Amino acid sequence: LYYQINIRLTAKTAMGRLDKAFIQAPEHRPITHLTNSGDFIFSDEIPTIDLSSLHPNSDKTTIAKEIGKACERWGFFQVINHGLPLDLRRRVENTAAEFFNLTAEEKRRLRRDEVNPMGYHDEEHTKNVRDWKEIFDFFLQDPTIVPATPEPEDTDQRKLTNQWPQHPSDFREICQEYAREVEKLAFKILELISISLGLPGDRLSGYFKEQTSILRFNHYPPCPNPELALGVGRHKDGGALTVLAQDSVGGLQVCRRSDGEWIPVKPIPDALIINIGNCMQVWTNDKYWSAEHRVVVNTSKERFSVPFFFFPSHETNIEPLEELISEENPPCYKKCNWGKFFVSRNRSDFKKLEVEDIQI
Ligand code: SIN
Ligand code: FE2
Repeated sequence: LYYQINIRLTAKTAMGRLDKAFIQAPEHRPITHLTNSGDFIFSDEIPTIDLSSLHPNSDKTTIAKEIGKACERWGFFQVINHGLPLDLRRRVENTAAEFFNLTAEEKRRLRRDEVNPMGYHDEEHTKNVRDWKEIFDFFLQDPTIVPATPEPEDTDQRKLTNQWPQHPSDFREICQEYAREVEKLAFKILELISISLGLPGDRLSGYFKEQTSILRFNHYPPCPNPELALGVGRHKDGGALTVLAQDSVGGLQVCRRSDGEWIPVKPIPDALIINIGNCMQVWTNDKYWSAEHRVVVNTSKERFSVPFFFFPSHETNIEPLEELISEENPPCYKKCNWGKFFVSRNRSDFKKLEVEDIQI
């Protein structure tokens, strides 16, 4: 009932039938848990944390402890009473649906390429298999300054800018307003995570002064063969953390740290999902977990989601925080410059900084 938005049922899709590019290897095909009526069965296991007691001068240690536990066990949790204005969330969901409802030709005018790495994209691949989705994304800081090349000795910089559609006419304004609000929440979570590690609340915020963060809209059309394809293949998020708004359809699955089982995340009306990215796993020297996750699709319902990828400034060196390492807990990772990493990947998968890639 919390999605009464008819426009969502009509969004046009360029995906069509299932081409072989979408077919997952047998071991990665989803075993979806469906009821007799074809709905997903969800799990309550992933913690839900109530942020309503969070005020500027309140004691944050209790919430921080809960968050710390979730970051260790799961790398995923949901937050409720998070303070992000709900009317703004509705507006951004509506405008995203309206955008995806444009014709394929209109959307492809904003197609991202080497020069414009942000915009529309309907050929995303994860681990070389095509994802059953289309996306639109933009940088929060426009332009975003990154190194020109991944070469350590090269000091040239490159400016990356956004692309915006003319319709819906207030699209850009709504997107940017939502992005500012979700960024505020991300800073609050960052503070709580720092406290949960026994560090000052502002220990990590200095890494985000000239952030390279991205807001993305995902649209997963109904899929004729959901047993063969995935909306997004298994991956870890590369940044510090992700704040995800999902609708009521469901499909996000998280790989449980303890045993590697795929656990379906239950959609909670108006909640936001937070997940730890690889930078945070490195900073905490593996105490906190960047969990693999993926999205399963279905034959009848389209799904929308809006992730915010909280990425550090390009000059940030990602390495275990010195306060957290000791003789008993030596660093498990080498230093890695975020900006160099950011440009060293091709655009379609730079967000998936594989922890293994920078492991000693
Ligand atoms: C992602 O992890 O890239 C998307 C998650 C989602 O749509 O739920
Ligand atoms: Fe992700």
